[in-house]
Amino acid sequence: MKRYVILISGRGSNMGSLLDAGLPGACAAVISNRPDAAGLASAAGRGIATAVIDHRGFASRAEFDIALAAGIERHAPDLVLLAGFMRILTDDFVRRFEGRLLNIHPSLLPLFPGIKTHAQALAAGVRIHGCSVHFVTPALDGGPIIAQAAVPVQADDDEASLGRRVLVEEHLLYPRVARWFLEGRLRLVDGRAQLEGETAVGGALHVPLTEPKGN
Ligand code: GRF
Repeated sequence: MKRYVILISGRGSNMGSLLDAGLPGACAAVISNRPDAAGLASAAGRGIATAVIDHRGFASRAEFDIALAAGIERHAPDLVLLAGFMRILTDDFVRRFEGRLLNIHPSLLPLFPGIKTHAQALAAGVRIHGCSVHFVTPALDGGPIIAQAAVPVQADDDEASLGRRVLVEEHLLYPRVARWFLEGRLRLVDGRAQLEGETAVGGALHVPLTEPKGN
């Protein structure tokens, strides 16, 4: 059975959606860079091994990433899922895990990389917002897009209301993509996401606006 590791920094709601999805693989560990991440307790409550590698204990980003890589590799995972992991990763780290490192980002990339994506979307006045799952490459939030889900922006939306509706889609999209990977159907080929031999059209695989729960 394939093994995966989830990296978190906070609440861990995406982590929870992955753990509850009945994925065809075993979660070997949840690792947080923050000891106070709420997601640690919910992982432990599901019987998952947890670890903290506190970035504040390291003199440099490179040293932290070396320790993090070691903490991941001891579980020999096939897949590493960033789920609200709020650290910029060094190129060395990313290259080491390239092709088996996924992230979920709360915008329709390449729009609104970085943080505060819902505020960015409202400020830009877009009518459609959403989330993206992508392979992680050294370009921040710039790796090959695998799948996206779109959410209409409503006239009375604020950051919180828009964020809540995007999060609903995140919780459907990420397990779906993780399942593809763990089934051996999704790969990174020549810098593009490939699902069952088909290169994604226009960079992203089409996902309907709303998905039935349960992938
Ligand atoms: C999510 O919106 C995720 O897309 C972003 O950070 C947030 C983390 O939320 N990268 P949670 O910790 O999964 O609840």
